[in-house]
Formats: sequence, C-alpha cells, structure tokens
Amino acid sequence: MTTLQITRSADVLPAEEVAALTPLIEDIQRLKVERNAIVAAHNYMTPDIYHLAADITGDSLALAQLALDTDADVIVLAGVHFMAETAKLINPEKTVLIPDLAAGCSLADGITGADVRRLKEEHPGVPVVTYVNTSADVKAESDITCTSSNAVAVVESLGVDRVIFTPDQYLGRWVATQTDTDVILWEGSCIVHERFTGEEIAQHRMTLGDIPVIAHPECPPDVLAEADFVGSTHAMIEWVTTRQPDKVMMLTECSMADNVAEATPNTEYVRPCNLCPYMKRITLDNIRASLETMTHSVEIAPEVADRARRAVMRMLEVGRKD
Ligand code: 13P
Ligand code: SF4
Repeated sequence: MTTLQITRSADVLPAEEVAALTPLIEDIQRLKVERNAIVAAHNYMTPDIYHLAADITGDSLALAQLALDTDADVIVLAGVHFMAETAKLINPEKTVLIPDLAAGCSLADGITGADVRRLKEEHPGVPVVTYVNTSADVKAESDITCTSSNAVAVVESLGVDRVIFTPDQYLGRWVATQTDTDVILWEGSCIVHERFTGEEIAQHRMTLGDIPVIAHPECPPDVLAEADFVGSTHAMIEWVTTRQPDKVMMLTECSMADNVAEATPNTEYVRPCNLCPYMKRITLDNIRASLETMTHSVEIAPEVADRARRAVMRMLEVGRKD
C-alpha cells in the first residue's frame, strides 16, 4: 500500500522559501512586462509556479479558453505540450511558448493521427470524440475534442447512439456510465492516475475513517467506484473550496492539493502522492529562460492546424459543464 502524504496550507511555500525565490520571480515579472507575456499555469504545477509566477491558473479547458480572451502577445504555457498546442491552435497569431519540450503526456504519446484514421475505417460514420490530451495530428482527425470538464456534454451534443472516444479508456468508460451513448474505446491511459487502485483507497478508508474521496475521471473504474465525487481538476477545486471539509482524499496529481490548500486553510489533504513527470519538467528557472530566449515556440503545420482548430472550437461552443 502506498504511503499517504498529508498537506495543510501552512506547509506550502514557507516565508523563507518565498524570500529565496524573490530574485527569480522579479526576473520573470520584468520579462513578462517586456514581452507583453502571461504565464498560464495548469493546476498541477508546483506551488511556486502556481502562486508566485502564474497570471492565470486552471484546468485544460480554462487554459484553452484563455487563448481566446487574452490581450498578451506571448503565452508561456506552464503545463504540458498538448496544452500549449491547443492554445496555439485557438490563437495562431500569438506566440505560445512551452519551457521544456519534454513536457509531454502518456495519453498524447499513445495515439497517432494514423490510429484515428484506422478507427474511422473500422467504424465508418461513427463520430470521433477526442480528449484534448492529444497531438494536433490526432485532433485533426477528430470531429470534436473534449476535456474532463465537458466530456459527457460533448458526447451528448452529438445526438448519436455511438461515438469513438480517444485516447483515455478510463475517461471513456466513465463517460459511458453517465450517458446512453455507446462508447468505442482506445486503450490509452494516464501514467499518473492509473497508479491508484480501488483496493488501496478502500484500505486507506478503513484506517482513516469516513474521509470523503474525490477523484479525477482518468482514474480506473474501481477507484471511481470508491469516490464520493468525480470531476475535472477545476471541479475538484470547486468541490473542496465550497465544502471546506476537515479532511479529504484527493485522487489526482499530487501538487494540486498543495495549490488548493491556501484557499482551504482548515482542510487536511491526505493522499497517495503520484506526481506527473511531464508536468514536473516545468520549473521557475525554465519559465524565466523561456521568456528570455523566447523558446520553445509551438508551431503547427497549417493543413493540420485548420482541421484540429475546427474540433477544438466545436468543443469551446459546448463550453464548461462542471
Ligand atoms: P484537467 O483538464 O481536469 O485539468 O486534466 C488535465 C490532465 O492532464 C489531467 O491529468
Ligand atoms: Fe498526461 Fe497524466 Fe500527466 Fe495529465 S497527469 S499530463 S494526463 S500523464
């Protein structure tokens, strides 16, 4: 059984750590002004990035929507590559930077555009719903994208009996439990969320007592069966900030509990601490370097971008549903 990590708001970003980071943060703030740039950070960034460097924080959908709204010329995407690519698709006029090209995603790595073309040949006429955790090539072969915040609504928006759902088998299985639509799955998974098991959660619950469990829908079905609430990172944050429970087990990437702890000072976060090695490629140092050298600028071939953009914009019309 994995050891549990316990976090309270006072443990996150002690004053000495903030003081030591101040010169670096000042460099980042200065460069943001010089470049007319913003730092958009996913909820899984470390607390130093989330609290000290980010102008906007959020889930995958919020980071996609921001690309429509911002006046900045440059977006530094403190997240993973597919998020930067999505921002670039939505707003090709802007420079979108990812501080480390190795910030990938196991879901995005597990499927190609050719795979989706094969699925469409096997299931002619069945629309393809694709999780945003994919490359632009995969999005270009899809009818519509979704995030964890609107996957059910996106599937239902199509008004069909069957969809092909790629690439996350667990999100797809969860969607299938929430709709009357049949879901043809691709067997992809997230290396962070697939590590949780229903058995370990049940065992922890026996020792911890009646602690509420909230989980991301990328977790396997036996984990979701143990959860009191299932939702996107945004929805999980809403859940804890609204309820302010004494204790909660939050089953998602470990840094998120650190980030939300400040807004929920009376809550103790207890969880098996699984970190995303891709998200953890992003650091304050490489955010500063990214702004200094304007690297790595995301570029997408126009013939791919046009088709991928259609699938993303169609999702944005459905909007947030959590
Ligand atoms: P959210 O869209 O819920 O933030 O999830 C993104 C992600 O990568 C989860 O692992
Ligand atoms: Fe991909 Fe999982 Fe990391 Fe999210 S947590 S970026 S889905 S590997």
